[in-house]
Amino acid sequence: MANHINFFPAFLFILFNPSLAIAVTYNVLNFGAKPDGVTDSTAAFLKAWSAACGTPNPATIYVPQEGKYFLRNVQFRGPCKNKAITIHIDSTLVAPSDYNVIGNNGNWLLFDSVDGVSIRGGTLDGQGNGLWACKKSSKNCPSGATTLGISKSKNVEISGLTSLNSQMFHIVINGCQDVKVKGVKVLAPRNSPNTDGIHVQMSVGVTIFNSKIGTGDDCVSIGPATTNLLIQNVACGPGHGISIGSLGKDYREAGVQNVTVKNITFNNTQNGVRIKTWGRPSTGFVKGVLFHHAIMDNVHNPILIDQNYCPNNKNCPGKVSGVKISEVTYRDIQGTSAGQVAVKFDCSKTNPCQRIKLENVKLTYKNQPAQASCANAAGTTSGSIEPTSCLY
Ligand SMILES: *[C@@H]1O[C@H](CO)[C@@H](O)[C@H](O)[C@H]1NC(C)=O
Ligand SMILES: *[C@@H]1O[C@H](CO)[C@@H](O)[C@H](O)[C@H]1NC(C)=O
Ligand SMILES: *[C@@H]1O[C@H](CO)[C@@H](O)[C@H](O)[C@H]1NC(C)=O
Repeated sequence: MANHINFFPAFLFILFNPSLAIAVTYNVLNFGAKPDGVTDSTAAFLKAWSAACGTPNPATIYVPQEGKYFLRNVQFRGPCKNKAITIHIDSTLVAPSDYNVIGNNGNWLLFDSVDGVSIRGGTLDGQGNGLWACKKSSKNCPSGATTLGISKSKNVEISGLTSLNSQMFHIVINGCQDVKVKGVKVLAPRNSPNTDGIHVQMSVGVTIFNSKIGTGDDCVSIGPATTNLLIQNVACGPGHGISIGSLGKDYREAGVQNVTVKNITFNNTQNGVRIKTWGRPSTGFVKGVLFHHAIMDNVHNPILIDQNYCPNNKNCPGKVSGVKISEVTYRDIQGTSAGQVAVKFDCSKTNPCQRIKLENVKLTYKNQPAQASCANAAGTTSGSIEPTSCLY
C-alpha cells in the first residue's frame, strides 16, 4: 500500500521537474544563420528563439564560432514555456553599420518579459561610429539604439559578454527583478556620446560583478525606482563614473534605495561616485547608499552630489531639487583628484542632504591637499578625512 502511495509522486516529480527534463540545443546554423558578417541572420535567430521559448524543456541557443553574424534589431519575447534558456555565443554579432536601420528602434537586441534566461559569452558589436559622427556634426540623427535591452524580465544572467561601440547605451536593465551581470567588458571611445555602459532603472535585485567598463558616458547609471542594487569589483574608465541619476526629471518619481557600490577603480574618469538630480520639484529620493572602497586615479570629481543639474537651462532656472538625499556613506575612498575640489556636496536648498557619512577618505590634488565644498549638506565623519570635511 505504502509503495503505491510513494511511487506516483516520485514519478510525477521526475516527469514535471524541468531541471531533470532533457535539455535541447538549437544551433542557429540549423535555422539558416550565415556567419559571413553580411547576410541578415535576424530571421534565423528569431526561429531559434521561438523553438527555445516554445519547448517545455531547458533549452540552449548555440551561436558557434564561425565568424560574424549580422543582425538587425531582434526582439526575444517571452513569456516562454520553460524557465531555463541559455544563449551561448562563441562569436561576434554585428549591428548594421548604417545607423538608420536600427537607430530609431530603441534597442538592437531586446529581451522582453522573459524569466530564466542566461546570456553567455560573445561579442556584440554595435558599430556606433557612424551615429556618433552624425551627432557630432549636429545633423538630424536618430537617437540611437541600446545594444542589449533587458525589459520586464526576471532571473536573467549575463556573463562573459563583451559589448563594443554601442550607438547609445550598451546594456539597459529596465523593469526587472533579479538580474546578474558578471565578467562583462564594455568598450567605447571616451568621446563617444551617450554610450553609457550599464543603465539600471525600475528594477529590484540587480548585481553587477567583476566587470570592466570604459565608454564616453557613465560606466553605470542608475535611474528612478532602483532598489537592492549591488555593484562590486568594477574597473571604470574612461567615462563619467558611476552615477545615481539623473533623478527628479519628472515631478512624480519613485526613489532609489539600498545601493551598494564596492571595490571600484576609477581611472581618468570625469566623475567617481556621483549622485545627480535635476534642479526642479520632484517626489523622488535617494536613501541608503554605500560607496565602499574606491580607488581614484586622476578623477575630475571623485565624490560628487549635484542637485542643480539643468542642461541648457531649460525648465529649471531658479528652481530647487525636490529629491531628498539621505543615508549616503563614503567609506575608504582613496586616490588622486584631477580637480582641486575633490569632494563636492551641492545639495538642495529646500531638501538638504541628510546623514551623509565620510569614513577614511583620502584624496589629493597634484600631491597637495584637495578641497571640499558643501552646500546644504549635513552629516558626520569618522577616521581620517582629507580634504577636511565641510558637512554641517
Ligand atoms: C539591500 O540590497 C542587498 C543587495 O545588494 C540585499 O542583499 C539586501 O537584502 C537588501 N536590504 C534590504 C533591507 O532590502
Ligand atoms: C577588486 O576589484 C578588482 C577588479 O576591478 C579585482 O581584481 C580585485 O580582486 C577586487 N578585490 C577584492 C578584494 O575583491
Ligand atoms: C590607470 O591607467 C593607467 C594607464 O592605463 C595605468 O598605468 C594605471 O595603473 C591605472 N590606474 C589604476 C589605479 O588602475
